[in-house]
Amino acid sequence: MSSVPVITLDGPSGSGKGTVSTRLASKLGWHYLDSGAIYRALAHAAGLAGVMESGAAAEIARGLQLAFRPAPDGGAAVLLDGADITDAIRTEECGALASRFAADPAVREALLQRQRDFRQAPGLVADGRDMGTVVFPDAEHKIYLTASAEVRAERRHKQLKQKGINDSIARLLEVIRERDARDEGRETSPLKPAADAIVLDTSDMSLEEVVESVQQKVGYSSLS
Ligand code: C5P
Repeated sequence: MSSVPVITLDGPSGSGKGTVSTRLASKLGWHYLDSGAIYRALAHAAGLAGVMESGAAAEIARGLQLAFRPAPDGGAAVLLDGADITDAIRTEECGALASRFAADPAVREALLQRQRDFRQAPGLVADGRDMGTVVFPDAEHKIYLTASAEVRAERRHKQLKQKGINDSIARLLEVIRERDARDEGRETSPLKPAADAIVLDTSDMSLEEVVESVQQKVGYSSLS
């Protein structure tokens, strides 16, 4: 087991974990793992290769040439074979395909060590679905963020709009429900809080309130 500290933030899409994780990582000066981006990059690579079937996706997952670079917004730019795919992987289609491939145990196994390699000093904030349950079961702080599907669809709508993507809230709600059902219902590493996770419902909270609350829960409330 590594002695490098890890804080895990798991939860469904739109729960706020991405933004909260990047803010927390930047305040602590720790590394940040956006594990969803790895599944999305795989979906993107598979799409480019014309692969839609998960057996072949595991092969692609093993050879994925992926790199992350710090982005000006505090998040990370995602490079596949040196090409910037940061924005390309944010579509709902890419998320849905990622979620299909993510249900395959061979895909998850192929991506496991790649995620664990992010655990480097001085610490790691890891964002995903199974960070606290499977990838970093020994993490010292585990947070599970959730929110109603309706609130998450609205948040997603706003987020996508800022990126110039205009999906209707009704359609996003449908996609979110479908993705939740697949992520929660799969046999391998289903989306669920770790037994020792703190669960926080963010439906009625602003982003600032969520960040503040998570900081308090992990004991870093003095950071500003
Ligand atoms: O978090 P994000 O929406 O980018 O993740 C895309 C998909 O990747 C999720 O719906 C989920 O199926 C999959 N995923 C996963 N395990 C993770 C992170 C993401 O299965 N740790």
